Amino acid sequence: MRTDTEQTIYLKDYAPTPYRIVSVELDFRILEDSTRVRAQLTIEPREGTAPGTALVLDGDDLKLDGIAIDGAPLMLSAYLADATSLTLIEPPHRRFVLDTEVTLDPAANTKLMGLYRSSGTWCTQCEPEGFRRITYYLDRPDVLAPFTVRMTAPLAIAPVLLANGNPIDRGDAGDGMHYAVWHDPFPKPAYLFALVAGDLGSTTDSFTTTSGRKIDLAIYCTHGKEGECHHAMDSLKRSMAWDERRFGREYDLDIFNIVAVSDFNFGAMENKGLNIFNDKLVFAQPETATDANYHSIERVIAHEYFHNWTGNRITCRDWFQLCLKEGLTVYRDQEFSSDEHSRPVQRIHDVQNLRTNQFPEDGGPLAHPPRPDHYREINNFYTTTVYEKGAEIVRMLATLLGEADFRKGMDLYFERHDGEATTIEAFVKVFEDATGTDLGQFITWYLQAGTPQVTASDRYDADSQTYTLTLTQKVDPTPGQPDKQPLLIPVRFGLLGPNGSETSWTAISGATVRDDLILLDRDSVTLTFSGIANRPVPSLFRGFSAPVKLASGLSQDDLLFLARHDSDPFNRWDALQTVSTHLIAEASAGRRWSAGDTDALRSAVVDTLENSDLDPAFKAQAIAIPGVSAIGRHIGKDVDPDAIAKARLDLLSELAGPIAEKLAALYTALAIAEPYSPDAAQAGRRALRNGLMHLLVAGAGRGDVAAAQYESATNMTDRYAAMAISAHYWTEQAPALLGDFRTRFAGDPLVFDKWLMASAQAPDDGAIERMRAILAAPDFPRTNPNRLRSLLGSFVMSGSPQFTRADGAGFRFVAEAVAEIDKVNPQVASRILTGFRILPMLEAGRREAGRSALEALKSQHSLSRNVGEILDRILA
Ligand code: PHE
Ligand code: ZN
Repeated sequence: MRTDTEQTIYLKDYAPTPYRIVSVELDFRILEDSTRVRAQLTIEPREGTAPGTALVLDGDDLKLDGIAIDGAPLMLSAYLADATSLTLIEPPHRRFVLDTEVTLDPAANTKLMGLYRSSGTWCTQCEPEGFRRITYYLDRPDVLAPFTVRMTAPLAIAPVLLANGNPIDRGDAGDGMHYAVWHDPFPKPAYLFALVAGDLGSTTDSFTTTSGRKIDLAIYCTHGKEGECHHAMDSLKRSMAWDERRFGREYDLDIFNIVAVSDFNFGAMENKGLNIFNDKLVFAQPETATDANYHSIERVIAHEYFHNWTGNRITCRDWFQLCLKEGLTVYRDQEFSSDEHSRPVQRIHDVQNLRTNQFPEDGGPLAHPPRPDHYREINNFYTTTVYEKGAEIVRMLATLLGEADFRKGMDLYFERHDGEATTIEAFVKVFEDATGTDLGQFITWYLQAGTPQVTASDRYDADSQTYTLTLTQKVDPTPGQPDKQPLLIPVRFGLLGPNGSETSWTAISGATVRDDLILLDRDSVTLTFSGIANRPVPSLFRGFSAPVKLASGLSQDDLLFLARHDSDPFNRWDALQTVSTHLIAEASAGRRWSAGDTDALRSAVVDTLENSDLDPAFKAQAIAIPGVSAIGRHIGKDVDPDAIAKARLDLLSELAGPIAEKLAALYTALAIAEPYSPDAAQAGRRALRNGLMHLLVAGAGRGDVAAAQYESATNMTDRYAAMAISAHYWTEQAPALLGDFRTRFAGDPLVFDKWLMASAQAPDDGAIERMRAILAAPDFPRTNPNRLRSLLGSFVMSGSPQFTRADGAGFRFVAEAVAEIDKVNPQVASRILTGFRILPMLEAGRREAGRSALEALKSQHSLSRNVGEILDRILA
């Protein structure tokens, strides 16, 4: 059954609008039960538009109450209006003012797109197509205009009235009402529009730019939460300073406001001068937020702030170009985090995220290029491919060009395109023009889906002292793209000699090599190094210099050699991960390791733990054993998650069992006596201590260590880790810890999310019934995206064995929940549904069980376009 349209939008059909919007004046009259919106749009035909060309404005769920042109009401025959469009059949062939009026019901807007109410506060979300739910408009990113916004609202329930830009007027409106007027001088697309009205508290501060302008900063939130906004405010000020230092970008308005709301579809939104945030990415205090939460807050505050230049001052021509602002801005926030903390630890963190989330997308039924060329529902393209692979592409540009030339290109980008809505092609061109480099092959990264697989093979010839290295690349077909072009892949590398230090060579032939960079630009290149005295061990893709899967062909001995000696921390970490992944994958297929294999891995782990040159945050990453999903992805087909989980537990026991006492001693020694601080040094110690606890629980049966830590914890990082690991391995103490946590923090919704996340990890056969009961409880907030994602999003994404149960109960549970959620909020529903993208990888029984759950979803419900598109792509 299908009720929504299945129309596909194509990039090749792009054409500018026949009319421009010169300026926008909006007047909102906000009342307790409805909001009236009056829009006065000054419009003119573009050059070349033929007289009599119709003007079609977008709408979504609107009803027109009034319409006039230049003050004169329009005759019925002059226009057509329905819920999704307003057509002026023959508009004046000159500049004119279109005046429209609609009435909205924000409290009923559970899709959280357009104007809605969240815990009493009126707020908006317009990206990508929410503005059309507020007024009839040319709702597309290439229509830019300055906005003036007047809001009138009851003073008692909405003393705070905010919009984009600068406040220019406010006052009493009689009858208990007041008004405020805001003006944003920077022409912007409608997706960057925002307003907020409500009874909110605030934290304020200021920032002085390099050129000496003082910017007023404020974070607005529910009363009583002001004290939890300091970390966000501090992150904002550091972001502002960093963008000046690193990219020469100053803030451009006199005021920058952030508002925290509790119902929000994404993380946060970069509306000009008025960022709106999911409150989980603002509030932090040690007792309720983890180190990971502090880190995400800093990152997302930075991300939205950086959009002011990469997104707002320069925006996207159309939504196919989404990666232009998102990939670039993620690159910028990753660089910010690297500069503020440890670069290698940040890199490992970002690559882990890419491999966990983006690689499965890129290798499954939902694969699409970072710059797609068609879509049915644009909301389905706010993906990890657009964001994180997009960031990797920008990073490769910086790698290929070098820091200085990359900056030259960025400077030219800002100079050439400021105030424009532009494209990926224009972005790549600034780097060509600024540096004289031909990037014709490089741009393929944006246009082609799929993760390249690079295979390395080598040969050392002692007689001639030559070393030959062959690298080949291959990209498997993806939906709609059967044939792939070779990419330009930057391979940062080194060759390690027998003592572990870099080997030098006298000459290289066979491919372009610049310093420590091999350019793999064909299906295959073979390099010959001369003057090599001993067989080297190659260290390839240092720092993860390209988003590829590497089959290095190295033996376990060579990998453990890299783990001990590589000067590149990323590859040290990766070598350990590769070794344990191989051992588990092989054992799950019945080819069990030898005692020698696990002894060698264990001693590499111990050496890492005891190496005083390494920082604790890095050690925590190095000793982590890859999860079931990561190993499943490595295996790639006919995956049996239960067999992997069993082999993984066996490996954990063999690694941790014999050294349990040593691990426990290290664990104890890492306790922190000082008061909590989220800084990198303390967070790193906690991460390592919790990593050791993980090994003790999973590999040495020490559920008691986690239970004791849970009891004595003085911060959420330690308490949550103890509970989550107990739940994940379903220790004897797990049910009691979950029960305690639930009551201890009753009434705090963001901590409730943590309980939901931990509950979704439980591997026991009772897990699904417990989740059903949680969802069915009368007080479960079933319209709140954070709650739904914490339970169901983490259930499908974090590799719970209950989701992939062989009897299909996990698949059916999620499919039924998706059908319910779709009626309330299609974006949240379709996001949860993407968890089914793993089906093609699973063994036949599970694959079929999953498909039949999806077939039932499709046949028994009328579904949104969001869910319909994802469903069809997974079932295709
Ligand atoms: N543009 C937002 C960001 O990346 C994400 C977002 C998209 C938020 C759509 C809301 C709706 O930073
Ligand atoms: Zn963004």
